[in-house]
Amino acid sequence: MRKKIIAANWKMNVTISEAESFVEDFQRDVADVTGVEIVIAPAFTSLAKVSRLLENSRNIRLGAQNFHPQSSGAFTGEISAPMLRELFVRYVIIGHSERRQIFGETDAFINEKVLAALANELKPILCIGETLAQREAGQEKEILASQLRGALVNVPAEEFADLVIAYEPVWAIGTGKTASAAQAQDAHAHTREVLAGLSDAETAKKIRIQYGGSVKPDNAVELLHQPDIDGALVGGASLEPRSFTRIVTAALEVSES
Ligand code: PGA
Repeated sequence: MRKKIIAANWKMNVTISEAESFVEDFQRDVADVTGVEIVIAPAFTSLAKVSRLLENSRNIRLGAQNFHPQSSGAFTGEISAPMLRELFVRYVIIGHSERRQIFGETDAFINEKVLAALANELKPILCIGETLAQREAGQEKEILASQLRGALVNVPAEEFADLVIAYEPVWAIGTGKTASAAQAQDAHAHTREVLAGLSDAETAKKIRIQYGGSVKPDNAVELLHQPDIDGALVGGASLEPRSFTRIVTAALEVSES
């Protein structure tokens, strides 16, 4: 059984004081939830504060939205994996479509980050996903396969089971348009097949694949019921404790059903 994993990607939102009040409310709301793994990925400025607030949390882990693959050096404005480790960060989002599209990140650079994360005991949440034009051209499966192959070069076989993959169709991010449960399941099953090819079938069964793209309290249950959907990466609906709690609760409900 793959434990469902629900992650909040706050993107460039939420100040330190807002993060503090969010975490206080949210921790109270999900205090009893043990059947779902929860991750919060705040902006870099809030990591230290949120890390302290989560010090005694049994069910909420800290995530980062980005980092640089080098450990230190002349990279003005960047943050390294050892810096994140010192703040007890467990997960890092890698290859988000906003990083690919706005900041020009390539599969090769994303691959460097995956390897650096694993070398520093950070668990990658590796994002993949096709654009609308690619889907309309019927290329989505090819795109997913090539993003996975590109990002996972030289990843040791024994590390595969620890990866988290987030399938995020670019056309569904922040648009209010969600992939239908059937479209998402189809992409997830394909993703697992590609992962099986890169590792083996048994290992691929252990890898958690999140769906991301306009996940809301109202559509979470249906998406999370799909056999290959093992969680969600949530942007907009994670900015408010009540709505994020409802998505966590949806995952719990599905896990227990
Ligand atoms: P969204 O963002 O939930 O606001 O669509 C998801 C993401 O980009 O991770």
